[in-house]
Amino acid sequence: MKKVTIIYWSGTGNTTMMANAISEGVKGVGNPVDVVQVEDANKDMVVNSELLAFGCPSMGAEVLEEEFMEPFIESLKDVDLSGKKVALFGSYDWGNGEWMQDWEARMKEYGASVIREGLILHLTPDDDGIEKCKELGEDIARA
Ligand SMILES: Cc1cc2nc3c(=O)[nH]c(=O)nc-3n(C[C@H](O)[C@H](O)[C@H](O)COP(=O)(O)O)c2cc1C
Repeated sequence: MKKVTIIYWSGTGNTTMMANAISEGVKGVGNPVDVVQVEDANKDMVVNSELLAFGCPSMGAEVLEEEFMEPFIESLKDVDLSGKKVALFGSYDWGNGEWMQDWEARMKEYGASVIREGLILHLTPDDDGIEKCKELGEDIARA
């Protein structure tokens, strides 16, 4: 069973809830999973994992959080992401999901294989949202 590594940033906890529910989905399939806040993450975690999920809410004006997540994602430019399967997720409020579309395009540009469309949920996940996160976790584990 391949390990899934989930690396995320969250300011008010909504994206944390998503990360934890994705982790539940992964565990349900039986794969090991590491859930790491981006502040504690490093590139080796990405190098050493074939199955990855990155989470970040829409911040600024439709961009990634700029202190930790943006530089972390930028640093992945130097990592060989070919063969890596990556799922993206995050919470948003008033926007139209542009940050996620940009992020997906960027991960593809960096050579990753993006699993499904990025999962975006409005503010705090409801039961349906949590279920979607669990399903995404199952899909990553089986990818
Ligand atoms: C400084 C700041 C900027 C934000 N910019 C956007 C934005 O551009 N588009 C959007 O849809 N939501 C935006 N939001 C709303 C957050 O994406 C939303 O509150 C989200 O649920 C936060 O997730 P978190 O609890 O994981 O931090 C912004 C929130 C903050 C605090």
